Parts: sequence; C-alpha cells; structure tokens
Amino acid sequence: MVKEKNIQFVIIAAAITAIGGMLFGYDTGVISGAILFIRQAFSLSSTAQEIVVSSVLIGAVIGASISGFLADKYGRRIMVIAAAFVFGIGAIFTALTPDVYTLIAGRIVVGIAIGIASFIAPLYIAEVAPVSIRGALVSLNQLAITVGIVISYLVDFAFASSGGWRWMLGLAVVPSIILGVGMYLMPPSPRWLYSKGRIDKARSVLERIRMTKNVSEEMKEIRASLVCEQECKWSEILDPVVRPALIIGIGLAAFQQLTGINTVIYYAPTILEFAGFQSAAISILATAGIGMINVIMTVVAISLIDRVGRRPLLLIGIIGMITSLATLGIAFVLPGLSTSLGLLSVISLMVYVGSFAIGLGPVFWLMISEIYPLRIRGRAMSTATIVNWGTNLVVAITFLSLIQLIGTPGTFWLYSIIGIITWVFVYFLVPETKGKSLEEIEMELMAGKRLQEIKNAK
Ligand code: GLC
Repeated sequence: MVKEKNIQFVIIAAAITAIGGMLFGYDTGVISGAILFIRQAFSLSSTAQEIVVSSVLIGAVIGASISGFLADKYGRRIMVIAAAFVFGIGAIFTALTPDVYTLIAGRIVVGIAIGIASFIAPLYIAEVAPVSIRGALVSLNQLAITVGIVISYLVDFAFASSGGWRWMLGLAVVPSIILGVGMYLMPPSPRWLYSKGRIDKARSVLERIRMTKNVSEEMKEIRASLVCEQECKWSEILDPVVRPALIIGIGLAAFQQLTGINTVIYYAPTILEFAGFQSAAISILATAGIGMINVIMTVVAISLIDRVGRRPLLLIGIIGMITSLATLGIAFVLPGLSTSLGLLSVISLMVYVGSFAIGLGPVFWLMISEIYPLRIRGRAMSTATIVNWGTNLVVAITFLSLIQLIGTPGTFWLYSIIGIITWVFVYFLVPETKGKSLEEIEMELMAGKRLQEIKNAK
C-alpha cells in the first residue's frame, strides 16, 4: 500500500472536480422553482411542464451514453472540461431562450453535461486519490451535489419575487467557467495515462500529485491491473470476469433511484401539500430544511466512509429509508391524525433523506468508481450511470400517476418494499472496498469470479 502524507494537491483537485457535482445538483434542483414562472411566461400545459422538467433527465441518459467510451479514449480530464463547456452553453442557451422549444433543447444540452459530469467527476477523483481517503474525496462530489441542490432552492427563492427565471437558469454559467478553467490547470489521471502506455508521463503526474518521488509501488499496482494492453472493445464489459462488478454497479444504480429519492428532491413541496400544508412558503421552507439535512448527513457519511466502511453505511442507511418510507405511508392512512400528519410526514421525509444521504447517495457513486477494471472503467461506469438516469426518469414520470393509481401511502410502501430488496441485494452481493487500492479491488472481484468458475467446473 502506498504511504500518503502529502494530500493537499489531491484535495484541491477533488474540490475543483466536484464543481461538476455542484452543477449536477444545481441544474436538477433549479427547475422546481423556475417552472412556476416558465409556465406563466409560455402558458404551458401540464404535459409541456413535465417535458421541460424531465428533458434534463433525457439529456443525462444521452450524456452518460456518449461519454464512457470517450473517457477511456481521450481521458478523464478532457471530458470534465468538455462537460464544463456544455454546462456553460446550456446555461446561456436556456437563459436567453425565445420560446419553449429552444428551452427544451437547452435543457437537454444541460442534461448531457450532467450525464457526463455525474460519473467522470467521481472517476477522475478516484483515480488521483490516495487509498486511505479515497472514499471521502470521491464523496465530496456527492456533497457538492447536495449543496448544489440547496443553492438552487435558495436562488429560486431569491429571484422568486421578480420572477427572474432566466437568472435562475443562467447563473450556472459562473461555476461552469470555474470548473473549465480549474480543470484545465489539473493534470490528467495517472491511471488513465498508464492505460494508454504513457508510462513516463503517468509516473511524473503521480510524483507531482503525491508530492514524492517514491511512487514505484503504486506504479507496480497499476501495471499489474492492466491485463489488456491494447485498445479494448465495448464488448469487454460483457466479459464474464467483469460480470459481478457490472451487476453490482447496475443494481446499485437502479436501487438508488427506485427507492424514490428524487420524488422528494423534485416534488417535496407537492408531497407536503398532500400532507395538508396550506402555505406554499412553509412548504418551500420545509423543503429547504430537507435539503439541508441532505447536506449535513452527507458530511457525516464523508467522515465515516473510510473508517467504518461502505457496507455498514449502506446497510444502516437503507434500514432508515425502509422504516421512514413505511412511516410516511402510515402517516397518510392513520385516522384522526390530520393535524399531526404534517409534522409526522416532515419528520419521516427528513429521516428518509438523511438515511439516503448517509448510504445509497454517496456510496453508489463511490463504488462505481472503485469496482471496475481500469481498462474498461469509463465504459462500465457510464453503463451504470445510464441505468441510474434511466431509472431516475422512470420514477420522476411515474410518481404522480402512481399516487393516483395506488394512493399516496401505497406509493411510499412500494418504495419501502423496493428498499427491502435493495438491502438484501447489498447484504449478499456488495463487497467492502474500504482501505483497498483500486487494483486490489479489481483482483478480488475477478478472483471471486474465477474461484466460482473453478467450483462450477468440478
Ligand atoms: C444522488 C442521486 C441523485 C439525487 C441526489 C440527491 O446523487 O444520484 O439522483 O438527486 O443524490 O442528493
């Protein structure tokens, strides 16, 4: 294992890259308030509003699909810069839009940037981070997502009285420029360089970011993990040896969304309205409170993730989600509780979001940056990310219809039941990756698969 003392450089690199996460959070959250004014400006039907809101998710699926291969071919750093550029273009485009069609096109462009940034940022951070703080550094990105969401709520609130939705959408250009310029100053990922055969450059980057000449051991580990020297194909992610990691990534991606988190992130004021909150202002305030819990519990997760490990956080967090979702459902059916219903639902929502923030929220993005072999890491992460945005879209567009179909309690119980399946999935399939180098994790997952093959052959 590599000794790590000089970590200033990687902390700066992680913080700059995490601006990508902040833009992800900002651009997904900002629409909740902006849509109220956009619908007036263009007299939108409710279907048109749904299209404006979900176009960003469609863009994210597209962005995640096109960028995995590019990240393996051209590098992680270049792709973060590309995402910053697309974020900036999207922000200007949507802020200046003359009609709803260009707005939808612009939101798709913003979505493409989100889709790219959502996995390249954790990927780059994981590849420059030293083992002992990799979990915390990669989770900085999830923290930035939650901060971006809260900032977007506050910006919406600030511009609400003037109806300034163009400012709400356009302000994202500022962090986009900081991300692009900051990333331009950062070095390429040493692991990616090595995988491209640029070994001397990889060594010099490692020496620079570790702030020591003593990087031979880490170089050796990277070399050992590169079984395939030549250009690898897409089909390689279907290699049976990679399959366990692929199942873990895709499973976590889907369960992170199917347990319903974004119904709260996108619809919290609506849920509170169902729970009997009369005043929109109080609902928005409670929503901001829920957003803050998301931030605070992510900080708690960061402080624990490299000490107690990923698995305990996942397992405990999911139990919190299952119970709070069940309670939320009960709150809606209990007779005679109408006055306390509001309070019980707010508390349940807070426990739910807090439990997500300590486990599934950060751990999913972290794990998919850890479990794939270097040679196909970009493409495998992009596959998990496509599933994540695809299921996000499914939940977002079915939530309100589900409530009509099976009622509010039924809907939350459904997410709770999916939570139970998620727990079982994690318990039996997801390994602990704390304290291991990316190369060790790769070896273990592959070795596990090989052992199974030997057993099956007997
Ligand atoms: C995670 C999820 C994202 C969600 C966010 C909320 O990053 O992937 O969909 O909006 O957490 O904090």
